[in-house]
Amino acid sequence: MSAMEKVALVTGSSSGIGYETAVALAKEGFHTFASMRDTSKATQIQEIAKKDNLKIDVIELDVDKAESVDSAIKKISSEAGRIDVLVNNAGYILFGCVEDTSEEEFRAQFETNFFSVIRLIQKVAPIMRKQGSGIIVNISSIAGRIGFPGTPAYISSKFALEGLSECMRYEMAPQGIKTILIEPGVIKTKIFENMKKVNFDGSPYKELTEKVISGIKMMSELGTQPIDVARTIVKAIKEDDPLPRYIVGNDASMFLEAKKMKTDIDFENYIKKELFDS
Ligand SMILES: NC(=O)c1ccc[n+]([C@@H]2O[C@H](COP(=O)([O-])OP(=O)(O)OC[C@H]3O[C@@H](n4cnc5c(N)ncnc54)[C@H](OP(=O)(O)O)[C@@H]3O)[C@@H](O)[C@H]2O)c1
Repeated sequence: MSAMEKVALVTGSSSGIGYETAVALAKEGFHTFASMRDTSKATQIQEIAKKDNLKIDVIELDVDKAESVDSAIKKISSEAGRIDVLVNNAGYILFGCVEDTSEEEFRAQFETNFFSVIRLIQKVAPIMRKQGSGIIVNISSIAGRIGFPGTPAYISSKFALEGLSECMRYEMAPQGIKTILIEPGVIKTKIFENMKKVNFDGSPYKELTEKVISGIKMMSELGTQPIDVARTIVKAIKEDDPLPRYIVGNDASMFLEAKKMKTDIDFENYIKKELFDS
């Protein structure tokens, strides 16, 4: 089968990393299903598809809803007959320290960032198994490797995704299904515009949470472009034996290198210095 006939599905393609990845995969010759929960946000991707003659189909998919996942996968199966690449990208950030975040808010964060990934994998893996090939790309984050204050629900959802992906590599590789993790640092997307915040009025953690939000917003102005994440994904999926993890951005490389070199306690002190002394 030539690259021209291969099929990709990207979740959360309305903006940012998902948008750039859907376009980049289509430019590589994939018949790309750019999925989004609100298809009224598809104008830009439809325009670029038309302009550059790219095979992009926009489909509705709310990753939080089982019936939406079901009908999107059925649609792709009947229209394209296969799925070669699944990019689990949809997600959001919830800001709020542990004591300020309700169990319900934790669960909602996990629903979108973690359980939806399982939902997609369980629908797509049987298709890939039948083909004897496929690659699943899970968009994690540097926040899947390093904990810091202010976003514990987001960080734990990405840590969970890392564990899941490590297990998948052992279980699914013998079935022909490859799994990779993408670990971006701070990327300049709408994620900070779209972020959710818990109510931390009057909280002893108010000052800390606000400091983290403004620090990350400032970093995002200097953040890596989402196209760089898309390019990393395209490069990784072309490899015969893709690595477990791909880091994107100098900030992510710097933090992860420091984590590798330092003891846990030295690394914690380093993060405190980075967060609180600047
Ligand atoms: N930006 C960063 O610094 C950064 C760093 C590391 C990792 N990441 C990860 O990269 C991924 C993409 O984020 P981004 O930076 O590109 O942010 P973004 O521009 O806000 O894009 C997030 C995408 O996820 C979609 N989404 C959210 N909930 C959804 C749901 N229930 N069903 C379907 N789609 C849903 C959004 O759709 P709507 O337009 O409908 O809201 C949007 O398309 C996320 O998993 C994020 O954790 C981002």
